[in-house]
Amino acid sequence: MTKVEQRKSMLEEVLGGLNDPQKSLPSKYFYDERGSKLFDEITQLEEYYPTRTERKILKQNVESIGQYLGEKVVLIEPGSGSSDKTRILLENLSNVSAYVPIDISGEYLFNVANELQNEFPEIKIEPLQADYTRSFELLEVMPDGRRVVFFPGSTVGNFERDTVDRFLNVVADIASQTGAFLIGVDLKKDRQVLLDAYNDSKGITAAFNKNILRHINRILASDFSLSRFDHEAVWNEEEGRIEMYLICNEAHEVAINGTTIAFEEGERIHTENSHKYTLDEFSEIVSPWFEVKKVWTDENNWFSLQYLEPK
Ligand code: AVI
Repeated sequence: MTKVEQRKSMLEEVLGGLNDPQKSLPSKYFYDERGSKLFDEITQLEEYYPTRTERKILKQNVESIGQYLGEKVVLIEPGSGSSDKTRILLENLSNVSAYVPIDISGEYLFNVANELQNEFPEIKIEPLQADYTRSFELLEVMPDGRRVVFFPGSTVGNFERDTVDRFLNVVADIASQTGAFLIGVDLKKDRQVLLDAYNDSKGITAAFNKNILRHINRILASDFSLSRFDHEAVWNEEEGRIEMYLICNEAHEVAINGTTIAFEEGERIHTENSHKYTLDEFSEIVSPWFEVKKVWTDENNWFSLQYLEPK
C-alpha cells in the first residue's frame, strides 16, 4: 500500500469506528514508532507478566520444543518484529535450517534479518514483507524443510473470533499436512493479576492506549486532545477478555478531515480486546484445523506455549 492508500484506509476505519453507537478504534493503530516503543516498555513492567513468562517457558523447555519441531525446520513467523523470542530458538536449536520472518514494516524487517544472518550464518534467513492479517503470498521459492509457523506473544488474544478462524486457515495452509504450529497463548487467571497487567502503576499502558489518538492526529491531521481522555482496562467475564477504553472526561468535539465527531463526558472509545483462554477453550477453537499435541506452561499456569499439528 502507498502512503496515500494507507491514509485513506485509516480515515475510513477511524470514521467508521467513531460513528458506531459504541465508538471504537482499531487496535493496530497503537503501533507507530512511539507506540512500538511504549509496547516494548510494557513488556518490561513488573505487572505485565506475559512476555517474561513466555520467555521463561521457551528457555526452560527449548530441548523438548526442539524434539517436537523435528529435523530441517523452516521456522515462519508472522508479525516477527524484533524476532526477540525466536532468538531463543535459533540460539539453542541445531535443527532449524531456515527462518522466514514476516512483517509489514519493511525497513525494520530487513535490518533485523541482516543482523540475524550475521549472527546465525548457518541458518538461511529469508525475510518476507507482508501484512499477515490480510492473506499473503508465501515466498515463491520457500526454503526446503518442515514448515513450522511460530506465533508467540499471545497476539492471537487480540483477534476477534472470525479473525482467529481466518488466521488459522492461513496458518494451516502454510504448515500444510507435514508442518506444525507453535503458538503462545495467554491463559485465564485471577482477575486482579489481569487488571494489574493492563492498568500498570507507572501509567505506561495508559500512554500506549492514548498513543492511538496521537498516531491518528499525526496521519489524519485531526485534533484529538489527549488530556481529555483517560485510560481504562476492565475484565469482561462473559467474553473472557480484557477490554481497553479511552474515557472522555469533558464533552467536546473533534475534527477529523472535515468531519466533526462529538464526545459526551463519560463516553468511551473501545480500543482493544485481549482474550484469555483456558486450555480446553483454545483446543476447541483450533480443533477444525489443528490438534494440540503438547502444552508447556509456567509454575502458575499463567501462560502457555502450544505445539499443534494439522488434522
Ligand atoms: C500485543 N498484545 C498481545 C498485547 C496484549 O497483552 O494484549 C497488547 C497490549 N495491550 C495492552 N498491553 C499490552
